Amino acid sequence: MAFDEAVRSTAEKWREVPGGTDMQPRQFSDRLAQSSDAELSRWWEDQYSCAASLRGWYWRLYGELLRGKRVVEIGSGLGFDAVHLALQGASVTCCDIAASNLEVIRRIARLRGLSIETLHIDNVRSLDGLPRDFDAVWAIGSIHHIPFEAAREESLALVEHLKPGGRWIELSYPRERWVREGSPPFGKWGRMTDGERTPWVEWYDVEKLKLRLHPWRLQSILEHRLESDTFIWMDCQVLGREVETPIVRRTVPAPSGTLVAPGPLWNYAWSTPLDPSPAEGAVMVEIECFIDSGSVGFVLWLEDGNRFLSREVIAEARTGNQVLHLTADMYHPDTRLLTRSATALGASRYRIASINVRPAL
Ligand SMILES: C[S@@+](CC[C@H](N)C(=O)[O-])C[C@H]1O[C@@H](n2cnc3c(N)ncnc32)[C@H](O)[C@@H]1O
Repeated sequence: MAFDEAVRSTAEKWREVPGGTDMQPRQFSDRLAQSSDAELSRWWEDQYSCAASLRGWYWRLYGELLRGKRVVEIGSGLGFDAVHLALQGASVTCCDIAASNLEVIRRIARLRGLSIETLHIDNVRSLDGLPRDFDAVWAIGSIHHIPFEAAREESLALVEHLKPGGRWIELSYPRERWVREGSPPFGKWGRMTDGERTPWVEWYDVEKLKLRLHPWRLQSILEHRLESDTFIWMDCQVLGREVETPIVRRTVPAPSGTLVAPGPLWNYAWSTPLDPSPAEGAVMVEIECFIDSGSVGFVLWLEDGNRFLSREVIAEARTGNQVLHLTADMYHPDTRLLTRSATALGASRYRIASINVRPAL
């Protein structure tokens, strides 16, 4: 789905926005906008004072980090973050697909004597009007509400407005939550996470964000799952744009049935060769697996050189499947994927559903 079509089908829902935390009822901003200044201000200030319980940790961190910086907020809702960052000395531009949300922000900013710019996004060209010297994109629970391809179009239009080395800061829902909630289609998952009228939500992690912004290169600064994997915070530095090349994946045969990695620790179990590489340079191995019991380590090993090519990723038993990523800066034809039981508490049982090798982004 293209971005303009996604905006047309979601904007109507999004005049219904969250309050200061996920515990407060949602509000229709077009109704709020009809209240008097005094009523609006009372309601908004109440929400703002509750907001610190959910947002306090990142308000403290980024209030300082973004002081004196130019921030473009995408999906600013009722402006709790925007006001906080502006009070800490950032210069904030709020963008949203629902015009009445921005109307509330303009009124609150006026009532508080703050200067906050606003931009209504009704198609991808709306972003053209933004300055091109932002230090950070700030997208808290917003871009994940449209399908990946549309979000990619929006993100690629937006990243052009960041300074070299700028930050991309995004809050989303992690894959772990999607699995926990039954891996529903994203059209249905939106209704489960954000209410009956929500057309879409999909999960993200930094690897998926990198795919969304490809061929721009991101370096992860912080990838933090919080509130029992209910949210994921992603903060990346945008390193620059590379030549666009298609991302080719090569599938490696996965073992059938359940594997058992016996103890003790460091006793390696199932392994497989990965050659040949689908790409020059750094590669990423994506593994979808189920850890039924115990804890399993996955690592890339160079047989000839007798050394590891990646860091080990250790996956603990949990409900549902998990996707793991192993990165090797240099790839050699005789690379093997090794697995082992990574717990001193006994054997581990696991299944591997798929193994894919692709260029690292
Ligand atoms: C769940 S609310 C979050 C609001 C705010 N960021 C907060 O933390 O309270 C989602 C907001 O993102 C906006 N939105 C949804 N999809 C968007 C998109 N693709 N681009 C820009 N804004 C979007 C909605 O209009 C709404 O204001």
